[in-house]
This record gives sequence, C-alpha cells and structure tokens, in this order.
Amino acid sequence: MALVGLREMLEDAEKGRYAVGAFNCNNMEIIQAIIDAAVMEKSPVIIQASQGAIKYAGLEYIAALTKLAAQKAPVPVALHLDHGTSFEQAVKCIHAGFTGVMVDGSKYPVEENIALVNRVAAVARPCGVSVEGELGKITGTEDDVYVSDKEALYTDPDEACYFVEKAQVDALAIAIGTAHGQYKGEPKLDMDRLREIDRRLDIPIVLHGSSGVPDDTLREAVANGVRKINIDTNIREAFMAAAKAALAEQPALLDPRKMLAPAREAARELIRQKIRVFGSNNRA
Ligand code: G3H
Ligand code: 13P
Ligand code: ZN
Repeated sequence: MALVGLREMLEDAEKGRYAVGAFNCNNMEIIQAIIDAAVMEKSPVIIQASQGAIKYAGLEYIAALTKLAAQKAPVPVALHLDHGTSFEQAVKCIHAGFTGVMVDGSKYPVEENIALVNRVAAVARPCGVSVEGELGKITGTEDDVYVSDKEALYTDPDEACYFVEKAQVDALAIAIGTAHGQYKGEPKLDMDRLREIDRRLDIPIVLHGSSGVPDDTLREAVANGVRKINIDTNIREAFMAAAKAALAEQPALLDPRKMLAPAREAARELIRQKIRVFGSNNRA
C-alpha cells in the first residue's frame, strides 16, 4: 500500500493502546529488514532516517526504497525524518514523500523551538505530513551527565502543556531518562513523569533512545502512554554481529551478499521481537 501518515498511524495506536516501532534505516538491507519484520508480524511500522542516514544513503534513495517497499507490503508504513534540525531539510523530505518529519528544536529556548516547529508545520500539515516535536533534552549515553543534573534535562509537564498548546505538533518526544546509544548500566525511566505528561496531553508521546531499555520497562512505558518507540542502536548491534560472524567464518569472503544477507536476517529478527514487545503485532 502507499505510505501512510504518521498521525493516523499513531491515532490507531492510541485507540489500541500499543506503540508503533520507529526503526532507523541506513541502507537497503535495513529497510528490507524493517519491512519484512512488519509483514511477518502483521504490524504497522515507521521507517525513519537520521541525519547520519541521509548523509550516508541520500534522501532520495531512502525515500525511493521505502516507497517501493511500502507499495509491496500489505501493512501500513510511514516514512519519517528523525531529529530534523532545519526548515530546509524538512521541506526537502516533504517533497521527497516523507509522511512525517521530526523537528528537533530541543536545544533552543522554548519559544525558538515553537517557532521552528510552526514554520515547518505550516508547510507540512497542508501536505498531509505529520510533525513530531521534542521537549526536554535526550542526551547520548556517551555524554557525561551527573545523575543529579539529569532531572534538569527531563521534560517539564507544565512546559509540555504550554508547548503543545503553542506548537503545531502531532506527536511529542519527551525526556524521561532514556539516552541515545549503548547504555553503561540499566536505564531508569521516570514513569511518574510520563504518567503525568500523558494525563495532561492529548497527543501521542514518543520515546527516543529505546535500545537497551529492558522489555518490561518498554511495556510499562507503553501502558503509560508511549505510542512511538525509536530503535536504532539495537538494530546496528544485531546487523553488525551477524556481519562480523559471517566474516569470521569465511575471512576470504568476496561476495558482500554473503555477509549482508545474514546481517539483514538478524536485524529482521531483532525488529520482530521489538514489535511484539510494543504490542503492535497483529494490528495491521
Ligand atoms: O537519533 C539518532 C540516531 O540513532 C543517530 O543516528 O548516527 O545515523 O545520525 P546517526
Ligand atoms: P537508540 O539508538 O538509542 O535506539 O535511539 C534511537 C533514536 O532515538 C532515534 O531517534
Ligand atoms: Zn532520537
């Protein structure tokens, strides 16, 4: 089927009280792994492209591959810009056929964040493209943030209400203790904060940095209102472990397909498992 809008997909998730996986892609094999996993699990799915992915693979390639994969798939697929930082890039994505764009203005003061979101939304929404905003600061696991300072970065519920009132967003990414990349210890999520934000907001909540968060914690986050869950690092880990194993087994390997096929399969299985944790299986 044709690509579907992020907003509609997340509205269905809200009705069914599950979350849709937003899986980052870097290349054709990962796009195929994401689609195959969604088809096998009969699940809606979001394919998203980060700044690094766009630099590596090119916006047009990602859009073309995802549109083709979506056309062939009997499940709803959305194509989303991840951590978009500029108006110009968001417009390029809209032209290329993305059905959602994240506008990450979280590093700016709130009024600037709102202004950036609204500038993009003025173009995106009339085209039927949904907008994700971010409030609070989701760090990288490599960033040294003292535990005592962490809460200062978390999303403030009052500010979240103000933001959603002023900014034309269809989904909101919040900071409640996750971080991008590989965790050193086990992440602790501020579920009370999540519950309060969910109680006071009327739009779907997005959890970033979800790789390495224990399955039970992810299930609890879904039960408390998270409707989009971003996974990148876990896919890279599965993909690269299988690629390395193929090379270790056959050090003189010449045919890249013999390394990439098992890597694609490992990524697919990891994504299937995540889809089941998010509860979006059998919802397509
Ligand atoms: O949000 C983040 C992505 O996991 C970062 O990915 O290295 O492809 O830009 P990247
Ligand atoms: P992880 O790489 O930690 O899964 O984070 C993914 C993410 O949040 C993409 O926006
Ligand atoms: Zn993220």
